[in-house]
Amino acid sequence: MYTQSFSVADGDKPRGPKAAPAPLSADEQAREDAFDARIADDGRIEPRDWMPDAYRKTLVRQISQHAHSEIVGMLPEGNWISRAPSLKRKAILIAKVQDEGGHGLYLYSAAETLGTSRDEMLAALHSGRAKYSSIFNYPTLNWADVGVIGWLVDGAAIMNQIPLCRCSYGPYARAMVRVCKEESFHQRQGYEALLVMMRGTAEQRAMVQDAVNRWWWKCLAMFGPPDDNSPNSALGMKWGIKRISNDELRQKFVDATVPQAKVLGVTLPDPDLKWNEARGHYDYGAIDWDEFWATVNGNGPCNKERLNTRVKAWNEGAWVREAALAHAEKQAQRKLKEAA
Ligand SMILES: [Fe+2]
Ligand SMILES: [Fe+2]
Repeated sequence: MYTQSFSVADGDKPRGPKAAPAPLSADEQAREDAFDARIADDGRIEPRDWMPDAYRKTLVRQISQHAHSEIVGMLPEGNWISRAPSLKRKAILIAKVQDEGGHGLYLYSAAETLGTSRDEMLAALHSGRAKYSSIFNYPTLNWADVGVIGWLVDGAAIMNQIPLCRCSYGPYARAMVRVCKEESFHQRQGYEALLVMMRGTAEQRAMVQDAVNRWWWKCLAMFGPPDDNSPNSALGMKWGIKRISNDELRQKFVDATVPQAKVLGVTLPDPDLKWNEARGHYDYGAIDWDEFWATVNGNGPCNKERLNTRVKAWNEGAWVREAALAHAEKQAQRKLKEAA
C-alpha cells in the first residue's frame, strides 16, 4: 500500500488545543449540505467545487504521500537495472521503474489541483516531514527481490488502489484507473520472473524463497495498522476516500496470494497461515508492528539512504528545471512576437 495517510500522519507541528469552530452562516451551511449530499450520493468532487478544509487537507496528505511513495519506490528496483540478468529483463525493469515515475507525476498533478504546489510537497519530502510507504525502506539484496517486489509489493498496491478508482475526489480517482492498469503489468512481470527462476537451479529456487521470506511480513504491514488502531480511517470512509478497511484489504491480499504461492512452489513464512473453513478466509499470524513503526519513524535499514538519494537527485536536477523554464519562457516570447 502506498497510502498510509489515515494511519500514519506526516511529521507535522505539535498540535495545541483547538479553538471552538465559529457557527456557520446560512450560505456556508448550504454549501456543506450540498457537499455531504453529493458524497452520500456517491458523486464526485471536482477541483472547483467547494469542499471542507479538512477534506482538502486529508486529500493533499494522502495523495502526496502516495506520490512520494511512487518516486521513492523507483529506488530499490532502479538499483538492479544495471545488473538485470538479460536484455529482456532489463527492458521490462526500465519500463516498470519509468511507470512508477509516471505514477508520481499523475499524483503530484492531482494533488496540485487542491492548491498545494509540487515544490511544497517535495520540500516536505526532502526535509523528512512527509511520509511515504515504509516498504521502500528495505534493501533489495538479490535479483529475486525484484521479482518478489513485483509479485507482492505491486500486488498489495493493486489491492489498495483498485478501490481508490472509486474515490470521491475526481482527479485522484481518474489517475488511479491508469495506475492500476500499469500495476497489473508490474505484478505479472514479477510473478513471471519468479516462475522462471523456480524452474531453474536449486540455487535460484533458494534465492526466491529467501526473498519471499524477507518480504512477506513487510507486505502484510503495508496495509497499515489494524482497524481498531487506525483512528482516522472512519473519516476517510465517511468521505468516500477510503472504501475498504486496512484489515479487509490485508485479508483479501492473503487470500489471493496463498494460491499463487502454491503454483510458484514457495512457502510463505508463517506457521499460523491456514484455511479457516468457518470464516471462508485464511488465518495468519501476528504482524510485528514495532518494526513497522520503527521504520515509519525513520529507523528502517534504508530510510536515510532513500532520502539522501532523492535530495541529491533534486539538487543535481536543478539545472534541468531551470533550462526547461528558460526554454518555455523563450517559446512564449516568440509566440507573443509572432502574434504582434
Ligand atoms: Fe506505481
Ligand atoms: Fe508498481
